[in-house]
Amino acid sequence: MKKPISGFSKLSKAEKMAWLSQEYTEDPQGTIELLQSYWHPDPATQQLHEEFIENTLSNYFLPFAIAPNFEINGQLYAVPMAIEESSVVAAASKAAKYWGERGGFKATVLKTEKVGQVHFVCAAPEGVVQQFFEEVKSQILADTDELTEKMRSRGGGILDLQLRDKTASIEHYYQLHAAFETKDAMGANFINTCLEQMAKSLEILAAEHPSMQAYPVEVVMSILSNYVPDCLVRAEVSCPVSQMAEAGMDGEGFARKFVQAVEIAKEEPYRAVTHNKGIMNGIDAVVLATGNDFRAIEAGVHAYAARDGQYRSLSEAEIKEIDGELCFRFWMDLPLALGTVGGLTRLHPMVKLALDVLGKPNAQELMGITAVAGLAQNFAALRSLTTTGIQKGHMKMHLLNILNQLGASSDEKEALVDYFKDHTVSNAAVEKALTEHRNK
Ligand code: MEV
Repeated sequence: MKKPISGFSKLSKAEKMAWLSQEYTEDPQGTIELLQSYWHPDPATQQLHEEFIENTLSNYFLPFAIAPNFEINGQLYAVPMAIEESSVVAAASKAAKYWGERGGFKATVLKTEKVGQVHFVCAAPEGVVQQFFEEVKSQILADTDELTEKMRSRGGGILDLQLRDKTASIEHYYQLHAAFETKDAMGANFINTCLEQMAKSLEILAAEHPSMQAYPVEVVMSILSNYVPDCLVRAEVSCPVSQMAEAGMDGEGFARKFVQAVEIAKEEPYRAVTHNKGIMNGIDAVVLATGNDFRAIEAGVHAYAARDGQYRSLSEAEIKEIDGELCFRFWMDLPLALGTVGGLTRLHPMVKLALDVLGKPNAQELMGITAVAGLAQNFAALRSLTTTGIQKGHMKMHLLNILNQLGASSDEKEALVDYFKDHTVSNAAVEKALTEHRNK
């Protein structure tokens, strides 16, 4: 077994690379050359990337793409997407075009509240903690004044602070449950800093309070919640079903099949997870491109999908008669705590570009654009699934990956892309066609 290394973080980058390549790879020189080949040619930009995290050796590239023609609330966007999966950007672009011809997407921010909690234990009898909290609440809030001053000047701050008695589920367990408005910042640092101050005040005030002195408050932890059901955006599309004829089905037939597919994902968790994964293809790609925290978004979104105790589809669809005409409506409410200031937004040059391309949106606009990208992705997936099946389009897009894996040259790729315009793509079929092409 290999031996653990101590002091790794203190080694220079060259020493780290040498250690890694010797200890963990079969080709040390090749590994070092590979790592170096992914360094940015400009040393300052490379250093910037290295300083985002610890123990950086190189960069890990993801494609940065654009899905154009997204009409959202009457404005046209070219949506930046960072993602490795073939088909996603093509599907987004197709859905953008489809809905651009049918009135565009609508996005509405419903709420923007975020949550943080101080988790603590206290053995005081029932009611004593509540009484104490009522007496010190304004002091706890006042103690954060300096920290919240800048945020308050931007219209944000702490919206509410409650004591929550959780002793029925865990002995002696309480929370300070705080609601925040963080405007254009995702707000994690702001919220966590406020919470840690509240925790400090809570402990000090309890130690000084006559009814609490015998029952010390012990703070377990203070942290924001990535569950943000009150930071919600709605993305939607609608049109008369008569405009939706598809793959040999009339508009109503296709719309009904589409609604059925959504209903299945509402009721069947095995399907719901994949359905929502398709939504997250669009969401994560925009979240990554705009320098936001996709792990936070993923965690919050999936918790929201299970908010009634069963994991369900995030999107909804219906057909309704409006003024004597059957209309299709497809929508989704999504909890998205996104930021357009702070974090990587001003640091990562590609993130800055992505935000510039989107017209320097504020956080609410970015919530709308991101939710629309998710809805578009879901529409494109369900449209394929309920008509041609997903593999036809997917394998077409995957063709270049297969050809690259087989070491095809540019000329070979061009010839085979042309050949597969009217042949079914599979790994075996591409390998066979490439061999035949080479033997010609
Ligand atoms: C693939 O990345 C995403 C889909 O599986 C989504 C879906 O099934 O709805 C196509």
